[in-house]
Amino acid sequence: MNTLDIGCGKVRTATVTLDIKPGPNVDVVHDITRVPWPFPDDTFDEVRAFDVLEHLPRDGAEEADSLFRVMIEVRRILRPGGVFIIKSPHQDNPLAWGVPAHTRVFNEHTFTWFAGSQEARVTRFDYPTFARMDLRVTRLYQVGPVSQFHVRKYAPRLATVLDRIGFGTKDELHVRLTK
Ligand SMILES: C[S@@+](CC[C@H](N)C(=O)[O-])C[C@H]1O[C@@H](n2cnc3c(N)ncnc32)[C@H](O)[C@@H]1O
Repeated sequence: MNTLDIGCGKVRTATVTLDIKPGPNVDVVHDITRVPWPFPDDTFDEVRAFDVLEHLPRDGAEEADSLFRVMIEVRRILRPGGVFIIKSPHQDNPLAWGVPAHTRVFNEHTFTWFAGSQEARVTRFDYPTFARMDLRVTRLYQVGPVSQFHVRKYAPRLATVLDRIGFGTKDELHVRLTK
């Protein structure tokens, strides 16, 4: 499988890695806000962005903004049926705005804009969208000395119930967009 990790940082998690900063595990040094990226159309089976998109500057209105440029560029370099996997803090996570380098926060609605949602259709501009979006929100809790980690380890059935009722603070968005 031909995979690309954008904003890979220090760890290699894909066939091809890209970051704005050079490093021992970075294959391609590139600023993803600058398009086009140095890859042809329909190249990758999967593109990954883990804790990256919340760092993109707000530098233009609507579809001229860097998040739109990145989303459109990822779609271009994915093969048909390829997937874009995103992990980012949910807006309820205190670190979403708590990290000084973060420039934007996301919630369940944000990425529907790139999958042709009803909400997105009311906007007045046009851009290529993904065919499908799947979303999962993970949660975090701590009750006294007992954390989610302990509940999962020692009381997995209770953990399942707590998951089902949505106990805890929304922590991370896990988004999968299919071209
Ligand atoms: C919070 S780190 C996440 C690193 C890695 N993905 C991980 O999960 O450990 C954010 C990464 O995005 C990179 N980054 C930020 N803005 C970028 C840009 N405009 N173009 C390319 N990489 C960028 C940073 O250099 C950094 O390595």
